[in-house]
This record gives sequence, structure tokens and C-alpha cells, in this order.
Amino acid sequence: MAEVTTEDPLAKAVVEGFSKEPKSVPSWALYDQKGDQLFRQIMELPEYYLTDCEAEIFKESAGEMLRIFSWDVERFNLVELGAGDGVKTEILLRQWMEMGGHLTYIPVDISPHILDILKERMRRNIPNLDIHTIPLDFNKALEGPIQELNQDRKVFFFLGSNIGNLRREEAVAFLKKVKSKMRKGDMALVGFDLRKDPRVVQRAYDDSKGITAEFNLNLLDRLNRELGADFDKRYFSHYPLYDPVSGTAKSYIVSRREQEVHFKKLNKKYAFQAWELIHTEISQKFNPTEIKDLASEAGMEVVNHFQDRKRYYRNVLLM
Ligand code: AVJ
Repeated sequence: MAEVTTEDPLAKAVVEGFSKEPKSVPSWALYDQKGDQLFRQIMELPEYYLTDCEAEIFKESAGEMLRIFSWDVERFNLVELGAGDGVKTEILLRQWMEMGGHLTYIPVDISPHILDILKERMRRNIPNLDIHTIPLDFNKALEGPIQELNQDRKVFFFLGSNIGNLRREEAVAFLKKVKSKMRKGDMALVGFDLRKDPRVVQRAYDDSKGITAEFNLNLLDRLNRELGADFDKRYFSHYPLYDPVSGTAKSYIVSRREQEVHFKKLNKKYAFQAWELIHTEISQKFNPTEIKDLASEAGMEVVNHFQDRKRYYRNVLLM
């Protein structure tokens, strides 16, 4: 295999992140092929309430959403940023097709593999659906193919509490970027996980089957494989921590002993003290005021919202 240079985004992320205190890696590094697959298993877990909440909202509110998105227009473009396998969106799309909705579905994801799965399933389940996949990270998609779309209304989707993975400044920058691609009448629907009983949140990131642990620790396999590192997973463990003051769930990998890890392809060694941490992910929880403030900082306005019966989760319509 070719020598890894710091041109490789993963190599760059590790070199940067491991020089911090605590050591960290950006959360996108968790999503290699195995990571995608483990995240899909997480979505099926009873403790991971987010998926069920968003599915419930989509079942209950499909009609109202279609009325809003189609208001005053013949058809619209549904641009889903970070679509993944699109299972939840399919709940809406199916109902909309039955209701006679007119739209083009444009799922965007960095993983071409997951978009293939999505397209294959949609073709089977909703044969009439007009679908165009864009296998790019969403910044590149917004700067490129999205700008070349026709004049129809654009409705941007950013679901699954993906916005919670971003730090506040990143979330503001992301919303600003989306807003800058919106013309009059365009809209954005963003999924926010709400603040709730801290124990419910804690359990969602520390499930009893250990799938979330496997998902988090899969990062070490990825670093071993792609950067020639020699992490021994026996000496690391998963540690999630929800802070109800800030509303941030953080995931860490803990070094269970003093050890050294060699990255062959980086030509670097990193020392870990006993119980030293690698920070891998944040999952932000919001209250309605925080959502409103975030939107307004990005120059957007909350015009509507849809929530589940337990009030765990909210899809917010922004303009
Ligand atoms: C895909 C970012 C929304 O933060 O809840 C789930 C990822 N990590 N369990 C989340 C995740 C651990 C998930 N997001």
C-alpha cells in the first residue's frame, strides 16, 4: 500500500486530534463500512429512542408536511444531506407517493456504498420514485451539484439528530451554508433530539448489548487497518457520558493501562497514560429555546415543528 501522507483526511485528523488534550478524533472517522453497519444496528436498539421518535413523527405528520412542501408549487426537490440508508425518509416518501405528491428525491451521502443500498431498496419499494443520488460530502454537494438543480423549490432534510454531532460553531456554520443555498420559498427540516430524563439519554449511548461500544471501538480497527496502527482492543473500553447541564452526550475511548501505540504509516508513536481518553463524538441535546437561538444565529427562523408523543424529539422547519 502507498505511504499515507497528511493529504489523507484520516491521517490528518489523527495527527491533529492526538496532539490535543484530551486526544480526539472527529466523529466522521467512526463511519467506515463497518461503522455504517454498526450504526444501522444501533438504530434498531430499543434504548436508541431517536429512530422510533422520528419514524413516529413521519407517520403522523406526512400529510401536513407534504401540504407545506408542495404549497404553491407543482413539485419540489427533496435534498437529504447525510441520507445514510434513508429508511426513515422512506416512511414519508411511500405515503407521499400514495397521496399523489410530486417530487424528486436527492439523497446526499459521503458513503457511495450506503447510497447503493438506499437506491436498491427504494427502487424495489417505491418504483415510481424519481431519485438522484449524490455520493459526496454535503459541503461539496452544496457547492457543486445542488447549485445546478432546476428552479423547483428545494426542501433540505438533515435528519436523525445529525446536527447534534456538530459543535455549536460548526452547527451555526452548517446552517448558514444551507441558508446561503436557499432561495425564496425553499425550506429546511432539521431533526433535533430534545433534552429529557438524563438516564434515558445515558442509556441510549450505553446500550445493554454493547453495540454502541463496538461502534465506538471500531475506530481502533479502522486506524489499525488504514494507518497501520497497532491498537490492541483488549486494553481499551467505551465510555459515554451525558452532562445534563450542557445537554452534551460525549463518547470516549479509555486506555485501560499505560501503553504505546505505533502508527506505521504515520511514522509516529503515541503514548497513553493509564485511563487516558480519546474523545470520539458529541451528541447534543436541545431545548426549544436553544433550537430557536441556533437558528437565528444562522439567519434562519423556526416556522413550524413536529414532535413525537413522548416529546423526546423534534423535527423543526426552518426558513
Ligand atoms: C448519527 C450522530 C445522530 O449522535 O446519536 C449513536 C451517532 N453514536 N450512538 C448520535 C451515535 C452513538 C448518532 N448520530
